[in-house]
Amino acid sequence: MRHSCNVAVLASGRGSNFKAIAEACRNENFPAVVRLLIVDNPDAGALRLAEEMGIETAIVDCGPKRGSMTPESSEEMYRLATERDIELVCLAGFMRIVKGRLLDEYQGRMINIHPALLPSFKGLQGQKQALDYGVRYSGCSVHFVDPGVDTGPIILQRVVPVHQDDDEESLSARILKEEHKAYPEAVRLFAEGRLRIEGRRVRVLDET
Ligand code: GAR
Repeated sequence: MRHSCNVAVLASGRGSNFKAIAEACRNENFPAVVRLLIVDNPDAGALRLAEEMGIETAIVDCGPKRGSMTPESSEEMYRLATERDIELVCLAGFMRIVKGRLLDEYQGRMINIHPALLPSFKGLQGQKQALDYGVRYSGCSVHFVDPGVDTGPIILQRVVPVHQDDDEESLSARILKEEHKAYPEAVRLFAEGRLRIEGRRVRVLDET
C-alpha cells in the first residue's frame, strides 16, 4: 500500500477547515492522514472536533502577543511535529504569524487558507475587506507559507460572486463552502507529490 502523508493542523477557533481536511483524510483513497491538531487556545472548537474524531491534540501557549508567537512555542510545535513524522503542516484559521523554528524547518511543507483571492485583502477579515472594497467576486486561496502575511506562492483558488445584498456573514458563508473543497484538494495535491514551487508560481504536475 502506498504511504500516507502525515499531516498536522494548526487552528485557533471553530475548526471547520480542520474538520473538512480530517474528514477527507478518512476516505480510504485519500493520500494523507491527520495525525495531530495543535491549538493555541484551549477554547478552540477545533479541539472538541478532534476529540470526537479520535485525533491527537496539543495545546501550545504561544504567548500574550496577539497574532504573534514566541520562539519557545515555535520550538515546541516543531518538536511535536517531528516526533510524529509530520510531512505537511496545515494552518486552518490559525490566527498567528508562524515564525521561528517551525517556519524555518517546514517552509515549503506548510500551507494556509485565506478567505480572499490573494494578493487582495491579506491579513484579518479578508471577507469584510472585499465587501468594503466593492469587488464583484471574491473567494479563497490556499498558499504555501512564507515569512510574510499571506504572501507565499498560491496553490489554488476558488471564486465566488459577491451579491448585492451580501453582508459579511453571508459572503463568509459562501466562501467557507469553497474553503472546505479547496483545502482537502490542496492537501491531496501535496500528498501526491504534485506541487512544485517555481519562484512565485506553483506548478501542478499532471493537471488535467
Ligand atoms: C476561515 O475562514 C479561514 O479562511 C480564516 O479563518 C476561518 C477559520 O474558520 N483564516 C484566516 O482569516 C487567516 N488569515 P474555521 O476555524 O472554521 O476553519
